[in-house]
Amino acid sequence: MRRALRCLLLVITTHTARGAVALITGANGGIGAELVVQFARAGYDVVAACRSRSAHVHQLVSKASVANRVKVLLGLDVTSPEKVNAFVDGLKRQRTAVDVLVHAAGVATWQLSSVVYPGTTEPMTLGSLDYGLVARAFEINAVGPLRLTEACLKEGLLGTGAKIAFVSSKLGSVASNTRLGANYAYRMSKSALNAAGRSLAVDLRPKGMSVVLLHPGYVATPMTGDRGDVVATVSAAGLFRRIAALNASASGSFIDYDGRQVPW
Ligand SMILES: NC(=O)c1ccc[n+]([C@@H]2O[C@H](COP(=O)([O-])OP(=O)(O)OC[C@H]3O[C@@H](n4cnc5c(N)ncnc54)[C@H](OP(=O)(O)O)[C@@H]3O)[C@@H](O)[C@H]2O)c1
Repeated sequence: MRRALRCLLLVITTHTARGAVALITGANGGIGAELVVQFARAGYDVVAACRSRSAHVHQLVSKASVANRVKVLLGLDVTSPEKVNAFVDGLKRQRTAVDVLVHAAGVATWQLSSVVYPGTTEPMTLGSLDYGLVARAFEINAVGPLRLTEACLKEGLLGTGAKIAFVSSKLGSVASNTRLGANYAYRMSKSALNAAGRSLAVDLRPKGMSVVLLHPGYVATPMTGDRGDVVATVSAAGLFRRIAALNASASGSFIDYDGRQVPW
């Protein structure tokens, strides 16, 4: 009896003593890799989920001396149901409970079009829209993050108190789109992501989970051709603070890395 009690106590202690886990997608990207460093520095065990490359995140975490807190996993293409399910199954088999899920994977229209139309650096414009690429932007920026979130929920990886952060964009703000227009695929896909995030915030509130949509600023990364108003380290530090401060009453908000509300 006493032995059984000791075993039970050991199980409870092991469970409650586990470190908090952050799962970050797009972990080899400009913002994603810096988020990995931020969470690891704050003491999280980080699952850094990359699609096909991981050199950048490996380099950053070793430079920041946090490699011991980071597990880099390759093969998470958020557009592939099979890969998403296999990835989530793998985490489940390792009994990984996710406390914070950060979706940083994403693509800009020009990144898609430059593959199909080499030499193109401009986003597709009105009159030359490629609807296959519009759909692809939706798959990566909106459907993929929802798919991964749903898979994590279905497999019980996210529980009470979990936080889900979507790296969206101010370009997904319909209300702010009064002057520049254009950028159809990217804007539409990020607006759709925002819609998914809002529904998740409502649906997951009774389960004690919080959701936030984040604008990282105009950040110098491969996505912007290394142009921007802010460097990825500063943006990621701000995003980390926003996620750390997220609670039930702020769930469903759309804010930037500095905490300012972004109009829908
Ligand atoms: N930079 C900005 O100014 C800015 C502004 C607003 C919003 N954002 C958003 O911030 C997020 C991060 O952007 P970033 O600037 O860090 O861009 P980035 O450096 O180009 O990184 C994007 C990452 O997304 C990954 N990715 C692309 N398609 C994927 C897929 N199908 N499945 C899984 N991963 C995929 C890429 O993986 P690979 O390494 O395999 O290519 C890459 O690591 C994106 O959601 C972006 O829309 C950025």
